[in-house]
Formats: sequence, C-alpha cells, structure tokens
Amino acid sequence: MCGIFAYTGGRTDAASLVLDGLRRLEYRGYDSWGVAVRSDGRVLVEKQVGKIGDARVSMPSSTVAFGHTRWATHGGVTDKNAHPHTDCSGRLAVIHNGIVENHSELRREAISRGHVFRSETDTEVIAHLLEDELAGRNGDPRALTDSVRSVFSRLVGMNALMVLDSRSDALVAVKQGSPLVVGYGEAGQYIASDASALLPHTRTVTFLADGQMVVASPDGVSVWDAASGKRVEQEVMELDWCPEQSELGEYPHYLIKEICEQPRIVRSAALAQAASAERLGRMVRESFGAFFIGCGTAANAALTGQYLFSRIARHHVNFEVGSEFGYLEHFLTPESLVIALSQSGETIDVIEPLSRIKRERGIQVAALVNVLGSTLYRLADYNVLLGAGPEKCVLATKSYTAKLAILVLTAYAMDGRLKEGQDLLLRAADCIEELLTRERRRQIEELADVIHERDHMFLIGRGLSYPSSLEAALKIKEVSYIHAEGFAGGELKHGVIALVERGTPCVVFAPSDETKGAILSGAMELRARGGFIVGVSPEPSDAFDFHVPVGDCGDASPIVNAVPAQLLAYELALRRGTDPDKPRNLAKSVTVK
Ligand code: G6P
Repeated sequence: MCGIFAYTGGRTDAASLVLDGLRRLEYRGYDSWGVAVRSDGRVLVEKQVGKIGDARVSMPSSTVAFGHTRWATHGGVTDKNAHPHTDCSGRLAVIHNGIVENHSELRREAISRGHVFRSETDTEVIAHLLEDELAGRNGDPRALTDSVRSVFSRLVGMNALMVLDSRSDALVAVKQGSPLVVGYGEAGQYIASDASALLPHTRTVTFLADGQMVVASPDGVSVWDAASGKRVEQEVMELDWCPEQSELGEYPHYLIKEICEQPRIVRSAALAQAASAERLGRMVRESFGAFFIGCGTAANAALTGQYLFSRIARHHVNFEVGSEFGYLEHFLTPESLVIALSQSGETIDVIEPLSRIKRERGIQVAALVNVLGSTLYRLADYNVLLGAGPEKCVLATKSYTAKLAILVLTAYAMDGRLKEGQDLLLRAADCIEELLTRERRRQIEELADVIHERDHMFLIGRGLSYPSSLEAALKIKEVSYIHAEGFAGGELKHGVIALVERGTPCVVFAPSDETKGAILSGAMELRARGGFIVGVSPEPSDAFDFHVPVGDCGDASPIVNAVPAQLLAYELALRRGTDPDKPRNLAKSVTVK
C-alpha cells in the first residue's frame, strides 16, 4: 500500500522522472500523490489529491527527487495529508509506507517540544523527530543516517520511509515490513516500492531486507544494518521481466490486457512448472498437515486448491484466509507445511503470521508467488514463481489462473499423473482462447447490457465451482460496485434465496461434474422466484435464461470459469463508468493491517 519512487543521479529532470515512476506504482494507492525535489539547497514539495492521470509537475530542474502515491490510513484524503511531509524548518521531506502504531504518543512528545503539525498523518511525526535529532549536528557527515536510524528505532509497526535533506544529495531510506527495492541504472540510482516500476530504467536490483537502511547518492548505493549501523553487502539480482510486459500496448486497460494474457500463461505453466509441481507435491505428501493461505483472490485460489487436492490427489490440505490464519496456528507442528499464495508477495496478512511461525516455531513455508525477491519469496523455504509477469490492474486475474494452473499440476503430480495434468492445462488454455474471441466477447457484452443497472447479483457453485463463485463475485463487486455475493449452491435455501427478486441476476456455475444435477435444481429454484439465470456451463439447460458456453475442462474447470466472470466484470465497469484498473478505495498490494 502506498507507492514510493525516488531517483538520484545525472539527469536533471528528476521530478518528472519520479512522477512517471509514481504512475507505474499508482495501483498501490491513488488517493493523492506528491513529489519533492532538492534544488539550490532547498527542498520543494508539490502535492495534490486524486489520481495522477496526465498531471505534470512544475518544479525546477534537479538531480534528486522522490515521490509518493497514497492509500490513506491516518487522516482523510486531503492535500495536506498527501506525502511528502516536511519538518518545521522545511529542511527535510519524508515519505512513508506503513503505519506508525505509536504515532499519537510521538506526536504528543513532539508538540510538547514546540513542533507544529500541518497534517493528521502518522507520517509527519517522523519529520519532526528527525528535525530534533539533526539539531546541532551541522557538519557531521553521519548526522542524517544516524538520525534516520535513531528515529526508525523508535517507530512501532511495519514501515518503510525515505528522507530528502536540503543539505545532502543523498536519499536515505529504511524499512521494516513494507517493501523497498533499489535499482541500478545507467543514469543513476532508483528506489521504489515495487520492482516493476524500475523496469524502464533497469533490471538490476537489490531487495532491501527488513531492518536495512539504504543511502543512495549520484555516486552509488550503500546498504546498512539500521540497528547496528554496520555496512552490509547488498545482494544484487537481475529481474527476468521485460519493460514491455508492464506497458498497455494496444489495450485500453490493464484489466483486459491481463485477462487476454491468460492462455499463454496457463500454457507456459503446463510446460514450465512440471519440476516445481513434482517438488511441491512431494513436500505436501511428506508434511504432517499442510495449509493453504492467501488473501482476496489468492484466498479463492487457495480454497480451490483444497478441493483440487481432495479430488485429484485424495489428500487433505487445510485452507484459511491469511488474516485468520494467525488465530488457528495452534494446529501446527514441526512437521507442518504452510503454502502461501500471493501475487505480490507483500500482503501483510500473509507475511505477518508466516514470519512469526517461522521465527518462533521453525515451521516450513512454501510459496506460490509472482514477484521475485518479494518479502514472501525471501521468507519461504521453497518458491514456485507464478510466471504471470507484472500484474498492474488492481484486480487479480492472470495471477489467479496461474496459481490455479500450478495447483492443478501439483495435485496431478502428487498422484503420479503429471502428464494428464499438463494435457488438461493445455486444454484449459485453448478453452480460454475460445472465450476471448470477438464473437464470445460480444456475448458477454450483451449480458452486461442486460444486467448493468442491477444493484445485486448472486453467484452459486458447488464443489470445485464454489470458490469460482466467490472469485466471480469478488471480481464483479470490486470493479463495478454492484453488490455481488458468491455462495455454495447448497446454502441457497438457508437464507440467500430470500433476497432474490424478479430479474435479479443469478450466475450458476454448472460444469459437467458431480455437482451438475444439484446445481441445476438450485438454478430452477432461483428461476421460480424470478431470478434471471446466467448459466456458465459446457451444456445449455432449460434452467438458464442466458447461457455462457465454456469448454469442458474437468478438474481445470475453475481456470476456465474464471474468465467469463473477469470479462463480465470488465464490461460492467465500462457500462457503469468506473475505472477498470483502479477501483475506488482499493489498492493492489495490501501492506497494512
Ligand atoms: C488486494 C488486491 C487483490 C489481491 C489481494 C491479495 O486485495 O486488491 O487483487 O487478490 O490483495 O494480494 P496478493 O498480492 O497477496 O495476491
């Protein structure tokens, strides 16, 4: 949550370079944004509420700048609360990602020493504390880094912060929990919240570890242990993503671009993930109690995993959403295996319980993660990289189907039927391709035309399709703001059916499996109460008012069934005038509790 981007080097257009970097990070938060530069020995700040869009900065030329795009936590969405924040003297600017949990106490302390606060944020306290630390240390070359270390040691919570000092051309940043990546480019050094924002400049990066501080100047980068103040060797990696993968290309929105990338990603999972699937399958088999955890869309993939492992590998894997997992960890033993699913590898509700169980109890962790070098990637004992490429839209689409593809393959590998799993994935990729043809997309457009003015929708599935109904509902509600709820088909008569009125859209997932008879009965019951039944199924049925045909992909049906819902969510967003890539109130990477 919140995006940080910074530059120091030989270019003199640092402010616009930073603004461009922030645009690439905006999916992390888009309530407001701001940029600070150092020019003629002064720190100048420009900030405003809203998305960046086509905004330009009118700042003097400078070779050092940083910026921030905000997802508000403390203090409303106002210009004043936008970052960067400055100290009383205007010498320093600070940007921050995370929550300073003890900010009230620190604020009281700073006010008692005469500091004047201009915002309601927790961040501003950092600027004032730094101001005090720096007082009287003129001419001391270590003053800035020592002050940052000292203030950082007083902050409670998961925080990444960066400081720009009018008296230094170095940027100093430090982190605990929230991510920071350093990029080494030809024109200078960069620091960002996410490696994908660095791609236009460099693929050579260092992911900062928790408790590390970085000092970046036009001459280079040094990394330090914030607690001891000792210099540490920086681990330099090469990213395997290319800049074009982050661009929109011919597409109007990232959402539709990323939906359309899925056939290629599922196909490549079938071919490239065989060894990982075998290894992960063995780890599950050898563990005593395995758990899938994830949040949001990743949780829906994890729940699907529970069904897949049950039916394909006849193996029970527990499932829990990341934010609740910490309250159920009493079941864990030293032989347990926790498999975390996360696109970003930064979701706090996954990272926090995992770090704790690893640190305190040495529990083994495996990860299905998209971002190389992310916090989860570094924490896990074994990683399967999703290979989905950068996912920029706040809605997770291709990372979801990539996770499902790996889960299908792993369950088949565990049952000694890897080849069967690979063939199934290749078939699923073909079926998705079919759904993306012009003719099939037109059908979803027609459906969106019919239902886009409705306020409520219900989606049902049984067995493997139950998580599909949850995921479809999530896609629709997060981008169209239509109230959409997914349910297990059998739960219908236990309450939900009371909400169905004449014309209420009800999406029914009816694959050709053991759930078909019962789910079609459920569809009939909804129809009898006036529901407008949309059937996602290989076969037509009398129960459907509108049939969305999908290929019959057996155990891989959740992969294929995800796509009509993604397309429908997109078409509904277009018709309702919402932003398909940056829906209100959301952020792609949830790094605060
Ligand atoms: C946020 C995003 C979702 C995503 C979830 C988990 O809520 O908006 O799209 O599914 O976080 O993110 P992760 O990076 O852990 O998969």
